[in-house]
Amino acid sequence: MSAARHPRDQAVQSMFDRIAGRYDLLNRVISFRLDTWWRAQAIRTVLSAENPLVIDLGTGTGDLAFNAVKIANGRARIIGLDFSLQMVRLAQSKRAKAPHGSSTAFIQGSAMAAPLREAIFDGAMTAFVLRNVSELPLFFAEAYRVLKPRGKFVSLDMFPPTSGWFAKLYSIYFYRMMPWIGGLLSNDRQAYQYLSDSVRQFHSPETVATLISEAGFKELAIRKFLCGAVCMHVAVKPS
Ligand SMILES: C[S@@+](CC[C@H](N)C(=O)[O-])C[C@H]1O[C@@H](n2cnc3c(N)ncnc32)[C@H](O)[C@@H]1O
Repeated sequence: MSAARHPRDQAVQSMFDRIAGRYDLLNRVISFRLDTWWRAQAIRTVLSAENPLVIDLGTGTGDLAFNAVKIANGRARIIGLDFSLQMVRLAQSKRAKAPHGSSTAFIQGSAMAAPLREAIFDGAMTAFVLRNVSELPLFFAEAYRVLKPRGKFVSLDMFPPTSGWFAKLYSIYFYRMMPWIGGLLSNDRQAYQYLSDSVRQFHSPETVATLISEAGFKELAIRKFLCGAVCMHVAVKPS
């Protein structure tokens, strides 16, 4: 079943279908487990309401969703949405063993045409998804639509660091070594070359912030990790 309509989305969807089985392992290896810490920062930021209902856009294997219910000690309900059926199936298969897994639910669908009513969520979170999205304004507009007034939007993603010694080190690791390591572990070099290229060619964090504001969000803030190689955007839907 395909939830993606745009040819670029269909290519992204089938790529994530292909690599779903090794995705969690590769995430940990490639990020030296730092992704776990960044995810926790995003989760703590989005869980500001009491017993919130939160949407995880592009949930993948559900990492962010499972960590969120764990951090909230079950006092949050998370719905994970993803257009890759294999990713959604993996997330569903992890529910039974995950702490507070019953507070999560996973559905297949596009985040650019979310099969959800408007103004129902207290929070919307997304991790490492933006670079894969064909129409970012539509993605942010959908996040805005499904959030309640005063609902919080939090996005975590990778960006190309721009200057200094870290940018040089990063380009050796992420643009040269990582596609090779990812290819070796996943048997899909093309997918990890895509990951590397998607970061190299992505917008600056400031441009992404502008796009988020243009969707109507206010109180925008950017938090940078690893000299800006990973950034967290936080914004609020005004009342
Ligand atoms: C790099 S993975 C990130 C998964 C997860 N958020 C995480 O933190 O591990 C990107 C995910 O976004 C999904 N995705 C990309 N564009 C999407 C869209 N327009 N609608 C729904 N899912 C999308 C992909 O299928 C993939 O599972």
